Order: sequence, then C-alpha cells, then structure tokens
Amino acid sequence: MKRYLHLTPEDVKIMKRLKMMTIFGTRPEAIKMAPLINKMQERDEIESIVCITAQHREMLDSVLKQFKIEPDYDLDIMKHGQTITDITTRVLQGIESVLKESKPDMVLVHGDTTTTFVAALAGFYQKIPIGHVEAGLRSGNMSSPYPEEMNRKLTSSLANMHFAPTVENFNNLVKEGISKEKIFITGNTVIDALLQTIEEEYVFKNLCLNEIDFINKKIIVMTVHRRENWGQPMEDIFSAVNEIVAQNRDVEIVYPVHLNPKIKELANKFLGNNKQIHLIDPLDYKPFANLLNKAYLILTDSGGIQEEAPALKKPILVVRDETERPEAVEAGTVKVIGIKKLDIVNEMQLLINDENSYKQMSRAINPYGDGTASEKILEEILIYHRILL
Ligand code: UD1
Ligand code: UDP
Repeated sequence: MKRYLHLTPEDVKIMKRLKMMTIFGTRPEAIKMAPLINKMQERDEIESIVCITAQHREMLDSVLKQFKIEPDYDLDIMKHGQTITDITTRVLQGIESVLKESKPDMVLVHGDTTTTFVAALAGFYQKIPIGHVEAGLRSGNMSSPYPEEMNRKLTSSLANMHFAPTVENFNNLVKEGISKEKIFITGNTVIDALLQTIEEEYVFKNLCLNEIDFINKKIIVMTVHRRENWGQPMEDIFSAVNEIVAQNRDVEIVYPVHLNPKIKELANKFLGNNKQIHLIDPLDYKPFANLLNKAYLILTDSGGIQEEAPALKKPILVVRDETERPEAVEAGTVKVIGIKKLDIVNEMQLLINDENSYKQMSRAINPYGDGTASEKILEEILIYHRILL
C-alpha cells in the first residue's frame, strides 16, 4: 500500500505544485488522455496544463467538449492535406516556446502519432522528463502501421516513464533494453474513457442513427483510415463491403468517415448511393462508443477500436496485415483478416451467417484493464516526483 508523505492541507497550499503538461493532437490521443487529465485536475498537488497541437481540429475539439477540457495552449497546426513533414515541423517549432514559457516538471504524451513523437522530442530538447502513456505496443513491422511503429519506438527512446497497458507491452520494452524500473503496467486509459461513456439506454441525437433498426437488422460499424490502406487496399475493402451488402439484405453498414479528404473521396465514390450503407460524418465519442455497443459486428483498421470492442463483447474484424494488439486476438474477439477482398468477404460472411462462429467471438474478455489505468498512472507519477512514498 503506497502512502502520502505527511502532508497537511496547509502544506499542500504552500508547496510548489507539480506542473504536469499533457501534449496531444488527435482524436484517439484526446480520448485516452482525457480521463488522466480529469484525474490530475482533481488533485491539489498538481497543476495540470494542457497543450494541444490540434493536428486534428473538429475531431479533437469534440472530445475536449465531452470531457470538459479547456486547453491552456493551442498550436492550431492542422492544414488540410497535411503531410507528416508538415506536422513534424509545425509541432516542433510550436512547442518550444510553450515549454520555455510554462516550464513543466514533466510532459505526458500518448501513443504513436506524429504529435506524440515530436512532443516527446521537444520535451527532450528542453531537458524535461517525459511520461509515455500507452507505451510498448509493437507490430514488429516498420511499414505497418506507418508511421506509427516508428513514432512509438522513437518515443520509447525519449521517455523517462513508460506506462504500458499490458504485460506484452512491458515485455516489448524490456526486449528493447528499457529498464524494468521505468515501466509500469497500468491497463489502457481507453477503458476508463469507455466506462464513463457507455449508457445502456443511449438515444442518438443523429436522426439517421435513430432510424436504424438495431434489433432486426445486422448492423456493421466500419471505420477505415490508416495511411498504409490509402489507395488500392481501401478500394478492395470498400469493394468487399459492397459485395457483402449485395449478398445480405438484412445487413446495413454504418461508416462514420474520417475527415481526411483522401478517405472521404474514396468512400463516397465506392460506397455512396447505397441504401444499405450509411456514410456519415465522424461521430462525437459518446454517440460513437454507444454505436459500437449496439452494433452486430465491427470492421476496422483502427487501433483504439480494437481495445474497445472486446470490452463491449463485439466481434471485430481488422483489415490490416498485423496488429500491435495481440492480447485482443488471444482473447478471441479480434481477428486480423488482411486486406484482400476475397478474405474480407469470406470472414464477414462467416460472422453474418454462422451463429456459432459469431458466438465464439462475442466474448466478454477484456485484456485492457478495469477502468483504473489513469489512477495507476497518476500514482506512479506522484511516486516519481516524491509526493507519494
Ligand atoms: C492521424 C495519425 C494517426 C492516427 C489518426 C487517428 C499521424 C501521422 N497520423 O492520422 O496515427 O491513427 O490520426 O485518427 O500522426 N482532418 C480534418 N479535421 C480533423 C481531423 C483531420 O479536416 O479534425 C483532415 C485534414 O485535412 C488533415 C487530414 O484529415 O490534413 C489528415 O489528418 P492527419 O492527422 O494528418 O492524419 P490522420 O489520417 O488523421
Ligand atoms: N471514434 C469516435 N468517432 C468516430 C470514430 C471513432 O469517437 O466517428 C473513436 C473510437 O471510439 C476510438 C478512437 O476514436 O476511441 C479511435 O480513433 P481512430 O480510429 O481515429 O485512431 P486510432 O485508434 O486508429 O489511432
């Protein structure tokens, strides 16, 4: 059992508060950092400072609104059609003055986006310790997911504290030479966020979603956005989906399309104008998580959704060649099916028409924690800074 130093309320008032700066920029980072920020905001010993790069804009702002987070710094870097180089240079230049002005005691980054890596690098340049939330995920393939596998490895090289969701993630870091004392197995904060968001009687505000018959139809939620799937792979995935709806009149697809113009264009071209396919704007996190909870099946290349679906007992087919989330595959709810059209059609058909296969994958095994990851991370941070014994 860990104990606080003998701090009285008076001590806490006069002591220098620990300045924790969280830096993030995209939708998934915001969803997974929000519970930790909310926890830090509750603590008298901590001054929580939020810096967003706004690598994403609308998709980020909607999460901030749900979790009532008001950023202290907003680099506002998003440009339409931005390249990885654009993001890297704009974030690196923007963060320097923020860190110099604010002088945090520690910077927290999350996951594997370009914001993550560059924020960690900027912190390193200013000699500020870095805490990496969701550390140690590895696909073992530098080109997939691209550029995330490299981003996460580089971030691991820069971080002083590594918050690994699972034992597998811990082991990946140890194999790369990171000292065990610096790695903390905490579960994934995505479960903290999910548990705060799911409501069994949830009613959508979106009219199109409220009209969908979740009881009598098989509703498949899909999302596809990864860079390595842009172009032909995405065309093949969409083509497989068209074949599925043509063969199964009781199936409807709900696809909240990522705001990336490249993806919107392809999705509209291949999947537009089909009554069984609902192409909609990205949903705010609350309706999206509740949509997952009502879905029959999920088809995705997303990382975060692979962690959420097992917690919701939803079978999930991953249209990628590998995953950095093998725990969910072992748990039986996630199947990695590749990006070949025929394979996608066959795997979807099986889950739509074979009750046993469906039941086998609808398991309530959740390898990503019990919703207390933020608390665990916070405790380790307080120990590191000698506020907790
Ligand atoms: C980024 C991350 C990826 C993460 C994904 C989560 C990188 C290189 N990629 O990919 O790791 O899995 O976010 O979704 O860090 N756009 C908007 N509004 C928004 C968000 C995006 O209009 O709120 C459009 C813009 O035109 C932008 C484009 O989408 O230029 C691409 O955004 P970007 O962050 O570069 O890539 P993602 O594909 O979103
Ligand atoms: N998500 C959302 N609205 C949507 C689609 C996804 O809120 O319309 C959430 C989803 O629940 C998950 C996160 O966004 O928590 C995943 O983000 P994304 O797939 O963009 O990124 P990745 O996890 O692949 O990095």
